[in-house]
Amino acid sequence: MSVKVNGQDFTQEPKPGQCLRTYLRDLGWFGVKKGCDAGDCGACTVYVDGEPVHSCLMPAFRAEGREVTTIEGLGAGDELHPMQRAFLDAQGFQCGFCTAGMIMTAASLNQAQRADLGHALKGNICRCTGYRSIDDALEGRRETDDASGDACGRNVPAPAGPDIVRGQARFTLDVDVEGLLHMKLARSPHAHARVRSIDTRAALDVPGVVAVFTHADSPKTAFSSARHEDRTIDPDDTLVLDDVVRFVGQRVAAVVAESEAAAEEGCRRLVIDYEILPAVFEPEEAMQPGAPVIHDKGPEARIHDPQRNIAGEIHGGVGNVEEGFAQADIIHDGTNFTPRTQHAHLETHAAIGWVDEHGTLNLRASTQVPFLTRKELAHVFGLDHAKVRVFCERVGGGFGGKQEMLVEDIVALATLKLQRPVKLEFTRAEQFTAATTRHPMRVSVKLGAKRDGTLTAIAMRVVSNTGAYGNHGLAVLEHACSESIAVYRCPNKKVDGYAVYTNTVPAGGFRGYGLPQTNFAVESAIDEVAHAIGMDGLAIRRLNAIHEGDAMLSTGEAHGDVIYGSYGLDQCFDLIARAFDDGGAPPPDGWLTGEGFALCLANTIPPGGHFSDSFISLRPDGTYELTVGTAEFGNGTTTVHRQIAASVLATAPDNIVLRSSDTGHGGHDTGAFGSTGTVVAGRATERAARALRDMILDAAAKALGVSRDDCTLQGDAVTGSGKRIALSELHKTADDDLAATGSTNGIPRSVAFNVHGFRVAVNPVSGEIRILKSVQAADAGTVINPMQCRAQVEGGVAQALGAALYEEMVIDDEGRVTNAQFRNYHLPAFPDVPRTQVLFAETHDTLGPFGAKSMSESPYNPVGAALANAVRDATGVRFHALPLKPDRLFAGLVAAAAEIKEPQ
Ligand code: FES
Repeated sequence: MSVKVNGQDFTQEPKPGQCLRTYLRDLGWFGVKKGCDAGDCGACTVYVDGEPVHSCLMPAFRAEGREVTTIEGLGAGDELHPMQRAFLDAQGFQCGFCTAGMIMTAASLNQAQRADLGHALKGNICRCTGYRSIDDALEGRRETDDASGDACGRNVPAPAGPDIVRGQARFTLDVDVEGLLHMKLARSPHAHARVRSIDTRAALDVPGVVAVFTHADSPKTAFSSARHEDRTIDPDDTLVLDDVVRFVGQRVAAVVAESEAAAEEGCRRLVIDYEILPAVFEPEEAMQPGAPVIHDKGPEARIHDPQRNIAGEIHGGVGNVEEGFAQADIIHDGTNFTPRTQHAHLETHAAIGWVDEHGTLNLRASTQVPFLTRKELAHVFGLDHAKVRVFCERVGGGFGGKQEMLVEDIVALATLKLQRPVKLEFTRAEQFTAATTRHPMRVSVKLGAKRDGTLTAIAMRVVSNTGAYGNHGLAVLEHACSESIAVYRCPNKKVDGYAVYTNTVPAGGFRGYGLPQTNFAVESAIDEVAHAIGMDGLAIRRLNAIHEGDAMLSTGEAHGDVIYGSYGLDQCFDLIARAFDDGGAPPPDGWLTGEGFALCLANTIPPGGHFSDSFISLRPDGTYELTVGTAEFGNGTTTVHRQIAASVLATAPDNIVLRSSDTGHGGHDTGAFGSTGTVVAGRATERAARALRDMILDAAAKALGVSRDDCTLQGDAVTGSGKRIALSELHKTADDDLAATGSTNGIPRSVAFNVHGFRVAVNPVSGEIRILKSVQAADAGTVINPMQCRAQVEGGVAQALGAALYEEMVIDDEGRVTNAQFRNYHLPAFPDVPRTQVLFAETHDTLGPFGAKSMSESPYNPVGAALANAVRDATGVRFHALPLKPDRLFAGLVAAAAEIKEPQ
């Protein structure tokens, strides 16, 4: 066939059934991304004869004789298209995976379409930004700041920005690999079964199929897909390939072939004989005597109580809750439910493996934890650490989902066995059925309070559904049971928590790490107490929330390594109160309006140590090379680390060349999770930079023959006593290498605070919720990059709003996920997300670099509760389960009205 792409002629024939998206990528146009392969997300948008199309939906042969434009051809030569420039100026991206498609759609809009952006952009999903920065780009607002001066505290643009808007930033699979093999996974149709046999003969007969791997080929070393610095935190309940399947979608066999089509056909030809085992889907049932045992394992697996399907449990408290309830004038008791939701990062889980000429296993993976993945692969496959390298290029979103080893192990198995490069890329459906999710939780909260609002007792029982595997099960439960009640100065607290196995898709780490679920329950209960005594929602929280210096108690032990590096909760209350002191606009006719608030305390850094090393050296041209282990997946660390180093070295961020997230560069980094990229890894960078600055000043003083105290490092030179030496000259003449290391262990940990407020209107006839005002006040310490930090809050709020309003994975009574596509899962799109006003408290943290605190996860936490509280205020009805879909809201209002008419 003949097709023109970005002005170049191509004649390559498409493969049978090939879509235009993969055809273009086969030609090397990697700016065309896969987000869903179903026409739902827009990441693959290109122009065909000038018209935007979702290239995943268009058969490649239909491009015959036509002109195709991808993001790489949108500008004129080296010139950016005005829309690319606008996205660069507004920094209308975070991970950047959606950006090419978003720009292509945005650049195609006419004036009428631009007047209704909600409609015009509804086919393009962004999971990171919350759309405000995209709207800013379309409005032509410039947010980035190229001014000179101290790098920290400014809106320094992301270094990858120009490549992202051009479609030239390289993500995990944006690479041509000679002789690449493709893997597809055969997955269990049963929720619980034993594999009696697998007949691979027909699969191996498929032309192009190279190998089939089953449990017989699997290492017998058990592990957890969750990655933590201390691997014993999670149970060893997983094998690369197991002969028992415990959820619908668990991998049973891997087929490796010369093409994806052959690998898929090979999977279809496998003949697998299963012995069906009894299954259990509800955690409360799974804990009962006689329930099917999901993991019949010994103590070596570190499962708390396998016979009761309990992966881990927590019991603790302070004071005496019975006495506390006896002292109470008001008692509220309620049970709340938060469902299973998916991270929905646009780049699915993926990895490419190969063995290099030194016999080293290399994995190019979409991961937040390259160092911990290397460590576990070495453990599982019995390899020397030095013989495993894991690295990532730019990662297309993670949100905690990539603190997991879901593809690297099976790719490693095939690569080591075949000694050829192997690729595995999850489909969007696999993301829903075989990747991890948020833990669904049932949380009962009983609160006692005096008539003046003072809390006397808090009792909380948490049942968390960890699914078929225990990855993150106990750690998420611990976090869930901690800060949600530690934030209140109540003398009597009791917590009981259970992380329970069921035959459902495994849960895992997800932004907020269990806290959004318990926060919803506790903040809803606080609100009910406030309503009962006629107290304002902010006032009751001010009255009871911890003050600086108070012990942060939940399960009984004050966490000795958690301190108040700074305290800004009081400022957050003030900021929110002022923001809502405007009377509000009149509601739409017939709608009910209300306001709701919720707070959150978060010490996101994992306990027990989170380790980071940074290296920095002076380069021959007088610029610097900075090497860090932490990964960039839209969290902005590549920008912030350059800012930190530039501030210390009194230079511009552009003079810092950054290498990141590659175990081949040495050092160690626990990983880009727990909101540690700035506050932990950034501290290591600050230390490395300070050490290098000292070395430079020493060397310059010697070279200039002046006192070290008279020397000043500024820009590209050191000056002192009227003399000057350029850094490039110093590099040549210094006796020693000018290079330094900085390390941190993440101890002690500080706390961040967030308070969210909503004003909503509720239509009592349709059940629709409209958000009239959304404000979040955050204590992020001293903000290093306000634009980026604001965007983290906006993105977190948008994700949380999706979970509060629409998102919910539906599992049928045989354990199947029934809505495993974006189309019927309902991610928030452009018109669904209101602008959130983001306000920062002014504090300076004593622990974080330049006074900064964590602010990636915590903005998510208070949103669901604040929204439910606003709906309660508007309607008088308490909704105990998320999401607040219109049909449920309507049904709840009808039921409440019926109860009022017919009192029991
Ligand atoms: Fe839009 Fe990440 S920036 S999906």
